[in-house]
Amino acid sequence: MDAPIPDLAERADACAQRLRSADSVVLASHIDADGLTSAAIAASALERAGIPFRTVFSKQLDAEEIAGIAELEPDTALFTDFGSGQLDIIAEHEAAGDFTPVIADHHQPATADDADGEAAEGADAEAPETEFHLNPLLFGINGASELSGAGASYALARALEPEGGDNRDLAALAVVGAVGDMQASGGELHGANERIVEEGVAADALETGTDLAMYGKQTRPLPKLLEYSSDVNIPGISNDESGALRFLDELDLDLKSDGEWRRWVDLDEEEQSEVSNALIQHAIQKGVPTDKIEGLAATSYTLTDESVGTELRDASEFSTLLNATARYERADVGLAVCLGDRGPALERARQLLRDHRRNLSEGIQWVEEEGVNREENLQWFHAEDRIRETIVGIVAGMAVGADGVDRGLPIVAFAEKSEEEVKVSSRGTHSLVRKGLDLSQVMGEASRAVGGDGGGHDVAAGATVPAGTEAEFVERADDIVGEQLS
Ligand code: C5P
Ligand code: C5P
Ligand code: C5P
Ligand code: ZN
Repeated sequence: MDAPIPDLAERADACAQRLRSADSVVLASHIDADGLTSAAIAASALERAGIPFRTVFSKQLDAEEIAGIAELEPDTALFTDFGSGQLDIIAEHEAAGDFTPVIADHHQPATADDADGEAAEGADAEAPETEFHLNPLLFGINGASELSGAGASYALARALEPEGGDNRDLAALAVVGAVGDMQASGGELHGANERIVEEGVAADALETGTDLAMYGKQTRPLPKLLEYSSDVNIPGISNDESGALRFLDELDLDLKSDGEWRRWVDLDEEEQSEVSNALIQHAIQKGVPTDKIEGLAATSYTLTDESVGTELRDASEFSTLLNATARYERADVGLAVCLGDRGPALERARQLLRDHRRNLSEGIQWVEEEGVNREENLQWFHAEDRIRETIVGIVAGMAVGADGVDRGLPIVAFAEKSEEEVKVSSRGTHSLVRKGLDLSQVMGEASRAVGGDGGGHDVAAGATVPAGTEAEFVERADDIVGEQLS
C-alpha cells in the first residue's frame, strides 16, 4: 500500500524481514473464505520470495492445535486469520523456543486477564504481546469492518515482494476474503479495504461498479436470481417462484437464449438497466420503503482474470464457493482453487457448493420452523446435530431477518461439536455495535464462566463450551449483553 497506514506497513516490513530469514515456515490458517484467501495470499508471497514453507489448516486454533504446529518444528510459524485471540498460548511456545511466531490476523487480541475470566477490554497494555504481530486493531483500524485476515496477509505480501516483484495482483483474493467476512456493509468495502480495492484495480486484477445487489449475478438464471434474493424483500418476487417468472415474462425483453433463461451477466448494459428500472418500479408499487430500495444497488467486485459466468468472477460468489470447501474439511480444494487450479479442484469445489447451498437453505428453514427462544437481551436456538457446527454461524447470520427472528436482538446459536462439546456462534448488527454490543467479549466471558473459551469480533463471535452448560451460558451472555447495551 502506498504507505496509507504507515505503522501497519512498518510492522508488515518487520514481519517480512523475519520470514525472509527463516529456514522453515509453517503457514497455519483458518477454515473459512477469509482464512483460505489469507493462506493463498501468504503462500503466493512466500513462494515468490523463495521462502520454503508448508501449509496447515485448523478449524479452531487452541492449545492442542498450536502444540501440533510446534511438533512440526518450524523455525517460524506464520498464523493467518487467527492467532491474535491465542496470543497467550503462542507467547508460551515462543518463550519455550519452539518457534518464532508471525501473526497476520484481525481478531480481537487475547488479553492478559482473559485467563482468569476477569473483564477483558480489547487490546490493553497488559496483553501478552509478540514482536511480529500484524493486526489492524493495533493500528486503530477496525478488524471487523475495515480489514480482514486476508487484508492483513495482503499487507504482509506487499512487504514480502522480491526486488522488482509486484504482489498487487493478490488484492483480488484479499477482497474475496473481506467480502467473505461480511465486511462490505451497506453495499461496499470501507477504510483500509478500499485501499486494497484501489491497488487491485490499478493492477488490473479487479474491477468495481455499481450493480444490482443480488447474490448470484454470475451463475444464477434470472428467475432464480430474483426469487432467491431476499436481502431486500420485494413482495411478489422474493421467495416467489411464479411471481419472479411473471415479472420477467412481462418485460419486453428477450431474456432467453435457446430456450434457457439467461443470467444477469449475459445481459448487455441496456438490458440490465431495463430490468433494474422495472424492479425498482415494481418495488415502489408494492410499497417497499425508499431506503430499502436504495439497498438494491451495491458495489460489485469483479475478478477480471476469471471467466464471465463463473463463481470466481464475483467476490461474493467466490467467497461462498470457498466456504463450501473449507467448512467441510476440504480446505485443500479451496486453497488449490485460490492458487489457480481451474480443473479438478474447481470441479470438486462446485460439487461441494451444491451440498453447502442445500445445507444452508435446510438450516434456515429449520430455524424458521422451530423458531428462536427470546431472553431479555438476546435470542437463541439450539440446532443439536441438525446443523453442522462449522456452518451454524452462517445460518444464524442468514436467519436474521427471517420470519420470527428479531433484527433488533443479537442471535446466539448452538450446535453439537462432539459428545462433550458444543459450538456457539453469535451474530449482531452494526447498529447494535454502535449501541455498545461487543460479541467478542460476550462469547469470551460467558464461555470462560462455564469452562469453555471463545472470542472473535464485536459483530460476530464464537465459542466452544462443555455440553450441558448451555442454559448457564445463555444466562451469562444475556446479562453481559444487557450491561453493554445499557
Ligand atoms: O473467522 P472470521 O473472522 O473469518 O469470521 C468472521 C465471521 O463473521 C464470518 O462468518 C462473517 O460472515 C461474520 N460476520 C457477520 N457480520 C458482519 C461481520 C462478520 O456475520 N458484519
Ligand atoms: O457467513 P458467511 O460470510 O460465510 O456467509 C456468506 C454469505 O453469502 C451469506 O451470509 C449470504 O449473505 C451469502 N449467501 C447467499 N446465498 C447463498 C450462499 C451465501 O446469499 N446460497
Ligand atoms: O464460528 P463462527 O462463524 O461463529 O465465528 C465467528 C467469529 O468468531 C469468527 O471470526 C471466528 O474466528 C471467531 N471465533 C473465535 N473463537 C472461537 C470461535 C469463533 O475467535 N472459539
Ligand atoms: Zn477473518
